[in-house]
Amino acid sequence: MIHKAEFVVSNTNPGNCPKPDRAEVAFIGRSNVGKSSLINMLTNRKELAKTSQKPGKTQLINHFKIDDRWFLVDLPGYGFAKVNVKVKLGWEQMISTYLTKRENLCGVFVLIDSRLEPQKIDLEFLLWCGTEGVPTAIVFTKADKQSKNKTQQNIQKFLKKMREIFEETPDYFVTSSETGDGKDELLDFIMGLVNE
Ligand code: GTP
Ligand code: MG
Repeated sequence: MIHKAEFVVSNTNPGNCPKPDRAEVAFIGRSNVGKSSLINMLTNRKELAKTSQKPGKTQLINHFKIDDRWFLVDLPGYGFAKVNVKVKLGWEQMISTYLTKRENLCGVFVLIDSRLEPQKIDLEFLLWCGTEGVPTAIVFTKADKQSKNKTQQNIQKFLKKMREIFEETPDYFVTSSETGDGKDELLDFIMGLVNE
């Protein structure tokens, strides 16, 4: 259970992130997949991270300090069709630098929309993380939006695709920011990471 969550800083330059003096976990995934909503659900705060029905809401690297002990980071989404090439390249530069250079980063959660069939862009991003040695786990979001059966079908398809690329199955979680499903499992896992 998280007791205290406070906003620290937003920026576009990974070099301006707070001093890496404590463990850090980050949330990433396609635009609109539910990163900011998941952060609010985990921290029991309605509007700590800004959410929107329109994709492309989060544009910056947002640091939150949790229980004075670790950092939680909300990142902008990838795969937002409406951005121009310059913005896209800027995003890639910012995110790849952050993910590969941030020395206190102990976990990156890649969010996947549980309603969708496996998406190329997500698989490619996970592959990139794997080759760069970024420590990733998967969170399947929006599980409240369809039947448990459908969610499971999509997850199994995604994991099958993952196994075609990687040797092993990654750690994964199934969540709903609406109902709070999956919260305890995910928080337990995060606590394990930040307490190491
Ligand atoms: P960007 O910042 O634009 O990359 O998006 P994001 O990944 O941070 O998504 P955000 O949390 O802003 O959520 C996008 C939309 O999906 C909002 O309308 C949320 O209310 C909705 N949403 C997010 N998670 C869930 C969920 O678990 N269930 C349901 N039903 N809706 C959700
Ligand atoms: Mg967001």
